[in-house]
Amino acid sequence: MQNDIQEVLYSEEQIQSKVQELGAAVSRDYEGRNPLVICVLKGAFIFMADLSKNITIPIELDFMAVSSYGNSTRSSGEVRIVKDLDTSVEGRDILIVEDIIDSGLTLSYLIDVLERRNAKSVRVIALFDKPGRRTVDLNADYTGFSIPDAFVVGYGLDYAEHYRNLPYVGILKEEIYSNR
Ligand code: PRP
Ligand code: MN
Ligand code: MG
Repeated sequence: MQNDIQEVLYSEEQIQSKVQELGAAVSRDYEGRNPLVICVLKGAFIFMADLSKNITIPIELDFMAVSSYGNSTRSSGEVRIVKDLDTSVEGRDILIVEDIIDSGLTLSYLIDVLERRNAKSVRVIALFDKPGRRTVDLNADYTGFSIPDAFVVGYGLDYAEHYRNLPYVGILKEEIYSNR
């Protein structure tokens, strides 16, 4: 698995230190508000776990899984809810946790859904951001790292469901995805 990585972009230590900073910022900003923190499965599962351990105020956690319809329709912004929340968002302060923002379509869809369900506020925290890939106007409220448009995997990010369990984020060797 390690052999498939061309270059480590962010080490486990670098990621952990950034996640601590982000947890401190969230704890400060949401003091006294009991936010509902929502993990967007699957990619955000490790970030959610590490971030939540660095949040020092009372929060509730919930999980949502979405999938885009595939490449041809992805550009239309068509996203489907595969697993919905267990919790009502009405009147709640919502923080959506994402591993990465690429086109922005997944998040713009989710924000729209949560606002229509009458959330009190909806904000986004993303560990990684590829601003160069955006097709919709969307910015996270908290961002860990801005990264170039490379094929990155690890720390929740997959290629064909693999590499999510790497503790760091790396660039996948081109031969891995061009040979399939
Ligand atoms: C990835 C990533 C984000 C989304 C970002 O999820 O985890 O959720 O794509 O892309 P976008 O900004 O262009 O919408 P993916 O759909 O691959 O599902 P996964 O989290 O289960 O890997
Ligand atoms: Mn995802
Ligand atoms: Mg994926």
